[in-house]
Amino acid sequence: MTSIAESVSPESNVAGAGENVVSLADVRFAWNAGSAIVIDIHRLDISRGERVFVRGPSGSGKSTLLSLLGGMVTPQNGMVRVLGQNLAALGGVGRDRFRADHIGFIFQMFNLIPYLSVVENVVLPCGFSQRREKRAAKEAGSVEAEALRLLTHLDMAAPDILERRVTDLSVGQQQRVAAARALIGAPELVIADEPTSALDADRRLAFIKLLFQECEREQATLAFVSHDAGLAPLFDRAIELTAMKRTNSADKPEPESR
Ligand SMILES: Nc1ncnc2c1ncn2[C@@H]1O[C@H](COP(=O)(O)OP(=O)(O)OP(=O)(O)O)[C@@H](O)[C@H]1O
Ligand SMILES: [Mg+2]
Repeated sequence: MTSIAESVSPESNVAGAGENVVSLADVRFAWNAGSAIVIDIHRLDISRGERVFVRGPSGSGKSTLLSLLGGMVTPQNGMVRVLGQNLAALGGVGRDRFRADHIGFIFQMFNLIPYLSVVENVVLPCGFSQRREKRAAKEAGSVEAEALRLLTHLDMAAPDILERRVTDLSVGQQQRVAAARALIGAPELVIADEPTSALDADRRLAFIKLLFQECEREQATLAFVSHDAGLAPLFDRAIELTAMKRTNSADKPEPESR
């Protein structure tokens, strides 16, 4: 059976080298009708394999921007394209499928499933996406083997760690489980919302190196949010959200036409 994402975004249509994986045009977003505009971006293009660092003060809209890239929300104005696909055109179910197939998300609050083991948490995206299941199994022989490979890279494969409930892991360990879960099945776009906030300086660098390595293996694009400005030079490009906002950002968005 052809999945919705396969039918709207077959491999042949997926952006190739040099093409934009993310493309925002005239995007305005407010969380509620009549409330302040949080995102107001004229243009933002991110190319294949590019690693972009997003910064801005707390409340400036970093997580909101990532939610737009992941299709968790859609803008009142303008267009968000990922891999050439206009996310708003997919509808809610289509966006869920598209995200499952093409996007690995490391959430600010991890969103690990407390009653599942470490490995079960990591392989979870493969249960929602045959595409990622196939890619993960091809990589290591089975999705579980690929989960273990990623966890080993993240220094999380010790038997006593694997046997623990995820709720019994330290916050930094949970963060690494969340990273392995985002990377499994080689999604084209990896989105990370402050994935290093709970890690010490040594682990932070090691974590970023591994994240880069895994993204490079698959030519994945990385959008990474952090308060830690010291990490910015490691990336291909840094964007400052406050500076991107247009001067008319005090305006209210136009009413929804849908
Ligand atoms: N689900 C939501 N519903 C309504 N308003 C929201 C929601 N999420 C965020 N906001 C508002 O949108 C604005 C931007 O929030 P966002 O979480 O994107 O900021 P941030 O830059 O990620 O901040 P932080 O660095 O603290 O994580 C804030 O004013 C926030 O209150
Ligand atoms: Mg945030």
